[in-house]
Amino acid sequence: MNASTEKQLQNSLMLRLKQATAAEHDRMEQLMQQSQVFASEKNYAQFTLSQYYFQKDVEHLYQNPQVSALIPDLDIRGRSEAALQDLADLKLQPQQQVIVTDAIEYPQSLGWIYVSEGSTLGAAFLFKEAQAQFGFSADFAARNLAAYPEGRAVVWKRFKQAIDEAGFNDAEQELIIEGALQGFKRFGDLLADLHNLK
Ligand code: HEM
Repeated sequence: MNASTEKQLQNSLMLRLKQATAAEHDRMEQLMQQSQVFASEKNYAQFTLSQYYFQKDVEHLYQNPQVSALIPDLDIRGRSEAALQDLADLKLQPQQQVIVTDAIEYPQSLGWIYVSEGSTLGAAFLFKEAQAQFGFSADFAARNLAAYPEGRAVVWKRFKQAIDEAGFNDAEQELIIEGALQGFKRFGDLLADLHNLK
């Protein structure tokens, strides 16, 4: 393999991530449909709780200096604070402090962050639905689904670029994909248990 082909393969990590997690993404959509997230404010509040717990898990990974070196704009990412405010609007208080990512290392952590950042894209649809069904907004109960101030696409593109330009080798890429699958599994577990979350 010549240097240029090798570089192209390395650059396609974001594509690999998308392909390797496509089935998990489908599963998330199905789980969300099954749990009828928009059927009632109660269900929507439980969904917001799942977002809150997942965001706490992901933001815990921001503390790793290798992560912040690679993704310098972490301070604008992460939606746990927004989700917490939404929960207050919805009169719900998280009862748990559990973080499941204590043992997650670099570079798997980047896979988790991929799941969280990618979910901001689908959140555009969810935001519209929260507006249409309940009249929620970026200022009330749907802050965590709102676009970043710069816009979803710009922030996503910057994330993609950071990941693709880092030049991870194949073994590292495998670990990042492993991390993404772990992230999807965690969110899937939260969704599957949505109505029992406290
Ligand atoms: C009903 C629920 C959902 C819908 C309708 C949805 C929809 C979408 C859409 C349309 C995109 C592609 C946007 C684009 O390429 O411009 C996308 C991307 C993505 N979504 Fe979702 N999504 C949903 C739930 C989720 C959940 C629960 C997660 C994870 C917790 C998630 C993670 C991702 C990721 C990681 C990507 C990026 C894929 C890539 O690499 O390009 N999505 N979603």
